[in-house]
Amino acid sequence: MDARDLLRSVRMAGSAQGRRSARSAWRRQRIDARDLPPEARGGERARVPGTALEVEPLPGGGTVRFARSVLRVRVGVGGAVFCGWDGAEPEPSYAVAGTQKWGSPRERPSGGCPEADPRAVLEPDPDGWRVVSERVTVRVSRHGAVEIRTPGGRLLRRELPPRWWDPVGAEEGQGAARWVQRSETPADARVYGLGGRAAGPRLAAGTYRLWNTDPGGSFEPGDDPLYITMPVQLVVADEGCHLVFHDNTWDGRVTLRDGEEGAGSGHDRRGGCEVRMDGGPLRYWVITGTPSRVMAGWTALTGRPAVPPRWALGPHHSRWGFGSAQEVRRVVAGYRERGLPLSAVHLDIDHFDGHRIFTADPVRFPDLPGLARELAGQGVRLVSIVDPAVKAEPGLAAYDGGRAVDAFVRDARGQEVRGVVWPGDAVFPDFTDPEVRRWWGGLYAERLAQGFAGVWHDMNEPVSFAAFGDATLPRSARHALDGRGGDHREAHNVYALGMARAGYEGLCELRPEQRPFLFSRSGWAGMQRYGGSWSGDVATGWAGLRASLALVLGLGLCGVPYSGPDVGGFTGSPSPELYLRWFQLGAYLPFFRTHSAIDAGRREPWEFGEQVLEHARAALAERARLLPYLVTLAHVAHRTGAPYVRPLWWNSPGDRALRECGDAFLLGDSLLVAPVLEPGATSRAVRLPRGLWYDTATGEPHRGRTQVLLDAPLGRIPVLARAGAVLPVAGDDGTTELEVWAPRQGRTGGGVVFTGDPEGWAKPRMERFVSRWEDGAVVVERDGGAAPAYTVRMRGAAS
Ligand code: GLC
Repeated sequence: MDARDLLRSVRMAGSAQGRRSARSAWRRQRIDARDLPPEARGGERARVPGTALEVEPLPGGGTVRFARSVLRVRVGVGGAVFCGWDGAEPEPSYAVAGTQKWGSPRERPSGGCPEADPRAVLEPDPDGWRVVSERVTVRVSRHGAVEIRTPGGRLLRRELPPRWWDPVGAEEGQGAARWVQRSETPADARVYGLGGRAAGPRLAAGTYRLWNTDPGGSFEPGDDPLYITMPVQLVVADEGCHLVFHDNTWDGRVTLRDGEEGAGSGHDRRGGCEVRMDGGPLRYWVITGTPSRVMAGWTALTGRPAVPPRWALGPHHSRWGFGSAQEVRRVVAGYRERGLPLSAVHLDIDHFDGHRIFTADPVRFPDLPGLARELAGQGVRLVSIVDPAVKAEPGLAAYDGGRAVDAFVRDARGQEVRGVVWPGDAVFPDFTDPEVRRWWGGLYAERLAQGFAGVWHDMNEPVSFAAFGDATLPRSARHALDGRGGDHREAHNVYALGMARAGYEGLCELRPEQRPFLFSRSGWAGMQRYGGSWSGDVATGWAGLRASLALVLGLGLCGVPYSGPDVGGFTGSPSPELYLRWFQLGAYLPFFRTHSAIDAGRREPWEFGEQVLEHARAALAERARLLPYLVTLAHVAHRTGAPYVRPLWWNSPGDRALRECGDAFLLGDSLLVAPVLEPGATSRAVRLPRGLWYDTATGEPHRGRTQVLLDAPLGRIPVLARAGAVLPVAGDDGTTELEVWAPRQGRTGGGVVFTGDPEGWAKPRMERFVSRWEDGAVVVERDGGAAPAYTVRMRGAAS
């Protein structure tokens, strides 16, 4: 029990819930002491591969047999490299899977494990072997180092021979070993990703844990890990970019070390990475290429991001503690009376009956279907929180139904594992069991019948309150792991992923004509197949505002493009200025939602004075104007894996200054957004990527690869448009128009527009547009030469 634990337990001790949490923490500790395998007790033996003995060429590469291990190298069609040690294969995997559904149900799932590239074969090399393919060259040394090089031979990553610690008595290579894998990257390499990290987007040197964690209360940039951890790193260097994914769900640590360049002395110190896992397979994927190629490859492997229904790209209002249906009505009326758009209202745990999921408080929320109908009439959807923990209470439908299908996680002796969450003593569905997922998915029928249009998964790290120690299930708790069987050490990080799958598939089944709207606090690689995420309980403060953007950028680079923060922060009361700056940032992020804790101050835009209200109104109007563009970006993300919100280096990974820049972002191909993240600012500096950029407020052009100082009065944040951009926006009458920013003289530009089914599965329409100069004027045409069927608004006087 450390000091923080002690504080936590003292704070909790006063209440019944606190006493339960203390008991639950003791129980967890006792179960683990009894049931965790005694590996460490019997001692461990270290092992390295040793020297290579023989090779066997196979499709996509082959296997190299070493004295004490075996390595499979397999290059897939498209260039994704798989390396598996000790017999590890690409599947089964929780991450690698096709996207389940889009368009007609007959459409084959896209993505999943790629076929081996038949032309890529292991062949001898002076120092060992190599596999040459169109996109990447892999070299394997006689001692088990693996190099990933560009086709031109430039080194992107060198994985040194791994090391295992086999428990004495267990057979070598049976997956029970801890292992470490060190690697080197170019001296200038910068790393992004590892899930949602508040200190990002660029991950500084240090150690990052891989264990999904509710920080408890709220978090700030120094808190790590958070709700979503993923062994996914996007590495950007002059030599090229790559993504490396260690496909292993166990607890682990990634330590990053920055490289140093020897100022031309030839003595560069390479960047370093060490992945250390408590168990599970040693296998990884490497995908090389430009950032957009890498993300296309990554989402081909792990599934394309779900496209949210159109309404989910509008503004959402949420709070923990609405108190009653009357208050919900009052808030919605507040928006309506002020002429402020509102797309959805979220109901938190306080609308449940005694915090029991899949129920409704009969007094405070007596008629949810009626409320939903009433709000729908005003264009406002209801979204429901869903926590995984089921109150352990006979007579409760979810509990009885779960028991009937043996849904709840048990310990090694077969007892149901009890934890504590909002409703008190609770049990936890095992989402790694396909039967349990099916049962759980069916429960959403109740939510649909109550009139909810979407779901918000929370507390699914999973959290079980604990007065001390890790606030989750015992590490020895048993899980089905889709037929393989195992314990919580392996299942923990994919618990929320399984819940997302269960919810998504349930909603598809129950309401097949509509795309599900689902977002989740926790998750793992591949979660984008089912929906998005949000920041979780970000602390109210300027640091929290910065962290909000870091999380959205980082998750986007892990393949999860739809997310956003609690606008205004989760805790306390933001100053009017902080609230407004958060609101202005949120208006340009994929998921735009105000939310706050039960004891936090108000978050309605009119609660911060007349001035803030008017500026928030402007931000909402701009959000509404950009809706067709956001819809387009959602489809682009689905087709290509490119996130809506991209780091400034997206198209210029060679621009080193941009790699450090975490306070501005690209929204799609056309816009650059520079939010204000500091108090008192009336202007801000922005480093522009190459090209020509127009300040959208003034029309003034700025050259790229320079730093410019832009006005950022309280009323707006700087937004720039790329010269040549063609983007769809909503005109005054609501119809889609094309906004065209003049290309540079003699240059061309363009953009794509997706339109289509706002809620269903009909195939969207994609149109490409080109902008160019002709006889001293800018013209726009559809790919193929036709005139666009949209009204065209020309902007920017190019030089
Ligand atoms: C968690 C969620 C938060 C929610 C609260 C109550 O802290 O992160 O968004 O309001 O639980 O359900």
